[in-house]
Amino acid sequence: MREDWEPDIIVFACNWCSYAGADSAGVSRLQYPPSVRLIRTMCSGRVSASLIFEAFRQGADGVLVTGCHIGDCHYVDGNERCQEMMEMTIRLARTAGIDERRLGLEWISAAEAGRFAAVMAEFVERIRDLGPMSREDRSVSSRTPGGVEEAGGARR
Ligand code: FES
Repeated sequence: MREDWEPDIIVFACNWCSYAGADSAGVSRLQYPPSVRLIRTMCSGRVSASLIFEAFRQGADGVLVTGCHIGDCHYVDGNERCQEMMEMTIRLARTAGIDERRLGLEWISAAEAGRFAAVMAEFVERIRDLGPMSREDRSVSSRTPGGVEEAGGARR
């Protein structure tokens, strides 16, 4: 692996907690790796397995889903459903031969700017250690069972 290689990381961040935590990190001038690309969602419960696999197919080396702490979701239980979806997605990834360490789920509140920066740095380091995702693994979407959206996606 090239020394200067930087992983492409997609982070899904819920609008009310983790995205606000990212904002606070920026305002507080806390550094986190520039390879992190944030995608804002209204709730972690809106993230589906098919979105995650699409991110891999489009070039992500790691995908991290973040949201409000359990009990704090602004849509009651979206984060609990997200947790179920992630468990299923990790099983699918394992079945498809993808290293499950490329996937992550973290709860980060709006007040946790420091934690946001630390979690980003830790996740990027983990993916850097794993190296780039192989082209074969990128075709994962086509190797995962159909009906992913219905099985694990948001139900609202
Ligand atoms: S609103 Fe943040 S996880 Fe649901």
